[in-house]
Amino acid sequence: MRILAIETSCDETAASIVEDGCIIHSNIIASQVEIHARYGGIVPEVASRQHMLTIVPVMEQALKEAKMSLSEMDALAVTKGPGLAGSLIVGVNFAKALAMTNHLPLVGINHLEGHIYANWLSTSKPELPCLCLVVSGGHSDMILMDDHGKFRKLGNTRDDAAGEAFDKGARILGLPYPGGPSIQKATQGISTSLTLPRAWLKENDDFSFSGVKTALLHLVEGKGSPDPAWIKEAAAAFQDAIVDVLVIKTIQAALRLQVKQILLAGGVAANSALRNRFLADSTIPVLIPPPVLCTDNAAMIASCAYYHLMSGDINGDNLDVIPGLALGT
Ligand code: KG4
Ligand code: ZN
Repeated sequence: MRILAIETSCDETAASIVEDGCIIHSNIIASQVEIHARYGGIVPEVASRQHMLTIVPVMEQALKEAKMSLSEMDALAVTKGPGLAGSLIVGVNFAKALAMTNHLPLVGINHLEGHIYANWLSTSKPELPCLCLVVSGGHSDMILMDDHGKFRKLGNTRDDAAGEAFDKGARILGLPYPGGPSIQKATQGISTSLTLPRAWLKENDDFSFSGVKTALLHLVEGKGSPDPAWIKEAAAAFQDAIVDVLVIKTIQAALRLQVKQILLAGGVAANSALRNRFLADSTIPVLIPPPVLCTDNAAMIASCAYYHLMSGDINGDNLDVIPGLALGT
């Protein structure tokens, strides 16, 4: 089954063609990062306008790279939420028009569920039940996946998401947007003598990252005019604090729940320190998609859509965006 998927939930316009949920024929991602970087963060109105300009060329490029035409597609998929309303609307309306004019079934996909399915874009499939850590710009969710379509939310962030913390921390350190990749770059090969606090929030699976962000702000303010070498050490201490909490709390929950695997997903799962710590520390097997499939893309949406369509899940004309959509009960 060939699925063309569209993803426009945030600041990436993406289209991808995936066969049977795992064979990627094309995966086109038009990033708006340079446009938003000059504002130091995403400007929603700019994002939706940019999606309108790029969605047609991005879809055409996805077909061209796959050497396929729309008539060779079996179905369409689109992200319906969560995300920025104005961005989601562009993708959903475009996909609805495509479905209608090409007489193709369409399914709306939860972006967070899509992130998890980046782990299915491989020949070896994850084993269920598994514990999913979804860490992105908007979410830090621990989700138990018992089966396809069966998700239980165990915990989430009480304040900043992990990616949001990376972005805000980078801004405090004077490092460019987006913060996650700049902190990773700044900390390459750095070991630090600085330490920042960790919020363990004992006896539950929630996270909190606003305290470490405030502690970083105080550290930087206390330093006065820090030199570049000190900035790198502070960035490393900040990254260590976030990674420590994510890794230790997730592994503890996985052992408690006796899951078969841990699945990482979302933009922060592209972080090399996080990836290395999980692989080194966990006795339960950890699956992590390649970095390009951790950050926003449409291949993950197509993979997720395959399992929805296989279970008869098809949306009609009434498909609409759900900006606050959650995953799991
Ligand atoms: O999943 P994603 O692309 O978009 C959302 O659904 O939010 O995640 C974006 C977030 C941003 O906050 C970005 O700073 C973070 O993921 N991120 C990283 C890295 N690459 C992206 N954080 C840490 N290290 C990275 N290498
Ligand atoms: Zn995302």
